[in-house]
Amino acid sequence: GRPDDHVVVLFGATGDLARRKLLPGLYRLARAGLMPYRYRIVGSAPAASALTDEEFRAHARQAVTEFGAEQLSGAHWAAFESTLSFGAADPEDPQPLLAAVRAAEQAVGGSPRRLCHLAVPPSAFASVIGMLGRCGLAERARVIVEKPFGTDLASARALNETVHAVFDESRVFRIDHFLGKESVDNILALRFANGLFEPVWNRDHISHVQIDVPETIGIEGRAGFFEETGTFRDMIVTHLFQVLGFVAMEPPVRLEATSLRDEKAKVFEAMKPLDPAHVVRGQYAGYRAEPGVDPHSGTETFAALRVEVDNWRWAGVPFFLRSGKSLGRRRQVVALSFKEPPLRMFPVDAHTGGGPRSNTLVVDFDDPGWISARFLAKEPGPAMRLGPAAMTFRYADSTGRRRGLEGYERLLLDAMLGDQSLFTRADGIERLWEVSEPLFQAPPAVLPYAPGSWGPAAADDLVAPHRWYLPDIP
Ligand code: BG6
Repeated sequence: GRPDDHVVVLFGATGDLARRKLLPGLYRLARAGLMPYRYRIVGSAPAASALTDEEFRAHARQAVTEFGAEQLSGAHWAAFESTLSFGAADPEDPQPLLAAVRAAEQAVGGSPRRLCHLAVPPSAFASVIGMLGRCGLAERARVIVEKPFGTDLASARALNETVHAVFDESRVFRIDHFLGKESVDNILALRFANGLFEPVWNRDHISHVQIDVPETIGIEGRAGFFEETGTFRDMIVTHLFQVLGFVAMEPPVRLEATSLRDEKAKVFEAMKPLDPAHVVRGQYAGYRAEPGVDPHSGTETFAALRVEVDNWRWAGVPFFLRSGKSLGRRRQVVALSFKEPPLRMFPVDAHTGGGPRSNTLVVDFDDPGWISARFLAKEPGPAMRLGPAAMTFRYADSTGRRRGLEGYERLLLDAMLGDQSLFTRADGIERLWEVSEPLFQAPPAVLPYAPGSWGPAAADDLVAPHRWYLPDIP
């Protein structure tokens, strides 16, 4: 069914995330008939960057036109636009926002739920949450908090305390948009709905796992955010560790939030604290010249690491994680490499690729995503020679289905429905910071790399004798 009636309050409504993802996402949910029957969206920002209702509507229209996945349609837009209003809020003066929320609630009627989305810099989370508590907006409200949640264990604990002083955990939705991607969800389906994969999904059959998220973009004008965050906090400790949780978890007792998050927490519990000797940090040449970046910046724009999950299923199987800006290609890939059979009785044509990168199951989770089983097959002809082959399922080809929801769309909908399955939980987040702590104590040097490359060569040594699945394989 549809979510209960809602007033969505968007903090950071004039910011980058609201423009790229949240406003287009809410519009698309409305077009798809997935928003509540009655709802209003109230944009907010500090008084210094306040907008009028009209300006906010124009801003939203511009965002949807530029970043929306489909064209604006007159009737749908008019209906959506009529739900938008704006109310400025500073921690000491929330009055304009309160007035806007009251008006929105009257328009909806009854006592709608509130959803407060904190699309603000991490350094502002605590003060906005404090304000929500003091001014009463937290009543009937759920809260969505963006990532990264904290910058280390101590700050994550402190932030959890601040949040829990106002919202109990059942109303907290820490968002990680990778968990809203169709293919990440589909890892659960692949593993637990089929007898084919799960029996071999363990240390007896898998030699190593790669979770690889290279990006071609640089920091795109986000110097303020990126300088204090870096790739490890921006991508690894958030998105890639969460994906690892899904890849590595035991079967949940049932498909609901508590079981899923319990199983993910157990994976994080089993993760060994990171060994700085197994972490490579890099920075692309030219980063220090980007506007707003410290000319001596030691922030990493690339990270590769080896993670171990020390439990019954995975002991001895390395998980290699990599992400970086300004790399050769954009991809989002999980690759599970299977062990070689005990005997090699076939001549393998080294040139066509045989070798360790066949015998791999690949989940490409960049929307719309695909799954590919790569194996060796006989090449046509009189000789018994093997070459690489693949069986591939592409979401884009699955007919008769409408396009799935994007990560943010799916998660905004789940938050309105109150389903926490795909959101992170306080204990899990704190454990991930704890696991990362040795890296912060003794961070390895930041190595330079050329834009458009695949990062510092040390990242190749990290995975030896294995090799990165990307970029050689399509
Ligand atoms: C964001 C990071 O969370 O994810 C960005 O802050 C990164 O640095 C982005 O580029 C990648 O997400 P997407 O939507 O391209 O999969």
